[in-house]
Amino acid sequence: MKFDDIKVCAFDAYGTLFDVHAAVGHHRSRLGDKADGVSAMWRTKQLEYTWLRSLMNRYVPFWQITGDALDYAFDAHGVSDQSLRDDLLNAYLQLDCYPEVPEVLAQLKDGGMQTALLSNGSPEMLESAVIGSKLGELLDAVISVHTLGIFKPHPSVYQLAVDQLGVEARQVSFQSSNAWDAAAAATFGFRVAWVNRFNQAEERLPDQPDVQLTTLSELPAVVLS
Ligand code: LAC
Repeated sequence: MKFDDIKVCAFDAYGTLFDVHAAVGHHRSRLGDKADGVSAMWRTKQLEYTWLRSLMNRYVPFWQITGDALDYAFDAHGVSDQSLRDDLLNAYLQLDCYPEVPEVLAQLKDGGMQTALLSNGSPEMLESAVIGSKLGELLDAVISVHTLGIFKPHPSVYQLAVDQLGVEARQVSFQSSNAWDAAAAATFGFRVAWVNRFNQAEERLPDQPDVQLTTLSELPAVVLS
């Protein structure tokens, strides 16, 4: 599958460019056999809280949600360690990017494509992650939901990218490893590549992404003419 007339490649941040399990990965020995369970629950709760707070009209920045979700995951696993909490949150500010990301972004830019992040992340979190992975030169725009005060998959989030980038929805190729985010972006009208890094089943939501990739390395062939 090839997308035509794409002007911007917009990327989800967490799980797509940045490895959300890298934070626990750096402190794995301190959690022992609870490490994977804590990391998975931390991510699941973080997403649930974005959806719930959006429905409840009770927005707080993603940074607070990330801390609340970690507290829940610790509690559920019987972990109580303030210094580990601090270290994990600190590590979340400097998550590793997936190995192919710098090369793929460079290829896209060499091909004349604009690149952008479109994320739930608070502006400070995104800035820190971008600087930590040395992606600053490779991204033309970093767009946070923060100015809207609502999280994905609210359509206004995808509209924000269209407004800020000055393109039409069908000129955006949106990449996410989060299947629900990919589905919602397809409903909005973006061309969508689902980076199915974790070999997940397809969501039962109104629309499907246009293409499934295993990693972002396959993206340039889809969007560059
Ligand atoms: C983001 C979350 C959904 O970066 O991964 O927006």
